[in-house]
Amino acid sequence: MLTPLHACTSAGLARAPDPGQSLDRTTTAPMQEEDVKALTVIPGQSGSLAVTDVPEPTPAADELLVDGLAVGICGTDHEIAAGEYGWAPPGRDRLVLGHESLGRVREAPPGSAFQAGDLVVGVVRRPDPEPCGACAHGHFDMCRNGRYTERGIKELDGFASERWCVQADYAVPLDRGLADVGMLLEPTSVVAKAWDEIESIGNRSWFAPERVLVTGAGPIGLLAAMLGRQRGLEVHVLDQVTTGPKPELVDALGATYHSDGFDAAVEGGHPDVIIEATGVPSLVLEAMARTAPYGIVCLTGVSAAGRTRELDASGLNRSMVLENDVVFGSVNANLHHYALAATALADADGDWLRSLVTRRVGLESFAEAFEFADDDVKVVLAFGG
Ligand code: BGC
Repeated sequence: MLTPLHACTSAGLARAPDPGQSLDRTTTAPMQEEDVKALTVIPGQSGSLAVTDVPEPTPAADELLVDGLAVGICGTDHEIAAGEYGWAPPGRDRLVLGHESLGRVREAPPGSAFQAGDLVVGVVRRPDPEPCGACAHGHFDMCRNGRYTERGIKELDGFASERWCVQADYAVPLDRGLADVGMLLEPTSVVAKAWDEIESIGNRSWFAPERVLVTGAGPIGLLAAMLGRQRGLEVHVLDQVTTGPKPELVDALGATYHSDGFDAAVEGGHPDVIIEATGVPSLVLEAMARTAPYGIVCLTGVSAAGRTRELDASGLNRSMVLENDVVFGSVNANLHHYALAATALADADGDWLRSLVTRRVGLESFAEAFEFADDDVKVVLAFGG
């Protein structure tokens, strides 16, 4: 059973160390009470991103103390940096950014599944304090009342810090071979959840999908395609670029890359499953209307609100009803999905995963990590040299 609200003592909330506490903990180095560097932001305030000193976090009895290795930067981080999303912890102006984490355990509580030196990723979301029925059952990714919190996004400090702590129950151990790419676990957990749900929905009747279309060849789209190939499916990926690493990354998966629009991508047959990973309204509507019968569309891209389009609602309704189609949205991931994602990454081709990380930027050069470059797939902020 998961404990409700996480009270991590990380950055900004340092509390007096318990003198007896570190005696039993496995540790790689003596603790020193001094500040560490973190990438912080004032949510709602564009241009407020900065490297600031935050107090060395002090782990509670059930927490790991972790040396930050890297965080991945995604669209959500860009939105928070632009002042369009994100919430600081209550009573504070600044939020430590970063939810796609990777670190190395420095201290672990006795009896936990971790040891000093282990590679670890922190889970993003914590259940709401009530908790709602979904959160009470460990399904905090499906929180019903919206009072969940998220590390680096909503009211809890994130992992873009030289040091952070995390409850052992919300930490995921990673295969040592994933030291370069472990920050891909969180985005992989999002698509592992998407696939898990697709399979649950499909299994409401006879389900033997063959053809999958993924719209968008960003990290989410590419990882969704990778999971489709791991299932032995025929995978098509639609994006607009014709240069850069994306076409090759898709080829290397044994999938087919399309850049001539939706019609060309479905020319060979309508997909049984579409995973929409752009949030672009025209693609969202195409996806909803263009599956094979008994089609499933999973929407994972978050659109900016207020972009309206004309839609033949009755035609869409007619085809969805007559074909038993399902369209659903999917966000975040629970512990089960992180475990699925860790297995998917361990089974994946390491070179392919490494080539998803197209830029690594040091903490002091964080501004570069937030610039867009044409050839970027995943940009990573690296800690500790
Ligand atoms: C993260 C999710 C999170 C969502 C909404 C995404 O970027 O991957 O874990 O739930 O943003 O805050």
